[in-house]
Amino acid sequence: MKTAFATLGLALLVFAGCAGQKKTEIDFIQDNIDNAVAQHTLQTDIIEKSGKVLNPRTIDKDGSIHYIPIDDWCSGFFPGNIWFTYELTGDKKWIPLAEKYTEALDSVQYLTWHHDVGFMIGSSYLNGYRRLGKEEYKPVIIQTAKSLSTRFRPGAGVIQSWDADKGWQAQRGWKCPVIIDNMMNLELLFEASLMSGDSTFYNIAVSHANTTMKNHFRADNSCYHVVDYDPETGEVRKKQTAQGYADESAWARGQAWAFYGYTMCYRYTHDAKYLEQAEKVYNFIFNNKNLPEDLVPYWDFDAPNIPNEPRDASAAACTASALYELSTYVPNKGYKETADKIMESLGSPAYRAAVGTNGNFILMHSVGSIPHGAEIDVPLNYADYYFLEGLIRKRDLEKK
Ligand code: GLY
Repeated sequence: MKTAFATLGLALLVFAGCAGQKKTEIDFIQDNIDNAVAQHTLQTDIIEKSGKVLNPRTIDKDGSIHYIPIDDWCSGFFPGNIWFTYELTGDKKWIPLAEKYTEALDSVQYLTWHHDVGFMIGSSYLNGYRRLGKEEYKPVIIQTAKSLSTRFRPGAGVIQSWDADKGWQAQRGWKCPVIIDNMMNLELLFEASLMSGDSTFYNIAVSHANTTMKNHFRADNSCYHVVDYDPETGEVRKKQTAQGYADESAWARGQAWAFYGYTMCYRYTHDAKYLEQAEKVYNFIFNNKNLPEDLVPYWDFDAPNIPNEPRDASAAACTASALYELSTYVPNKGYKETADKIMESLGSPAYRAAVGTNGNFILMHSVGSIPHGAEIDVPLNYADYYFLEGLIRKRDLEKK
């Protein structure tokens, strides 16, 4: 009898413990939803009062909000953040704002001079399509995939990221530079292929992912930032960096793009080699001696003055979001728990700004490009974007 009571007591204790833990998770999610609502209310009030469609990316040195034109690679993230706020709250008042900020990007579908249209239209129109099933967004997504496909170089099997004949890129001697970030643009191609039934987009995405897998990674599973190809022959001309510390270093956000990119490629292809690649990148990141306890990396894993180097919250947020997805494909390796730990760090006062500060962005402490002297230790709209996407994914997983 004594044993039966003891067992019952233990069971109740475990149950209470689990319930307590569940409650903490729910509190965490709700607290971050409330915070996103507060910051986005302030941000959209400023925009609406201006009478213009402004697109906030970061803050300038004087603390003022930095707005960007629609051809900036970050223009999709703020509309995406408003779609995410709608999804997190279910409050329909966000819909007209999300639609307005999204539809301001209409002409981006014809943009062919850089590769980032996948980010731009994926974060805005594709999120709107996913949430509301808006049929009129489909042709925009498909046209964007066509524009992105004009940058495919069949001789090399890759999408050219940047033009090499103008701007700072022209000084690097590149012919067909491909950056690891480009993996993120493949999501739009996969989606456009499903929407249109045109397998060309799918085939381009797979070719790009395979060629990148072959040429972008080092023996330790970290990746280069830039690989330059001969567009006719596919010969690799150079392996370098643009935003990392050195050609042979591991730029933190680049590792995050690779990790997210291959996890997402598995979603659409179910090809095990993409899952393996994602797990290899995971092993590089999470076994790295320079990854801090709170799992928010320095801007480059090989930055020279660690621990006195800026962190990059955007890399951490992107990694956390991808980890939630990976945890659904590989449920038994603690990936969700690792993602939770990153989210806890990002949601703490060390990274999450007080309401009304930080230009009304959610997260502090990201890095744009240290070699360019740009956006060092600032908020970035894409850090917020992947943090909110991670929050949605976490909430969906907790519900199960
Ligand atoms: N795609 C540019 C960056 O990650 O900064």
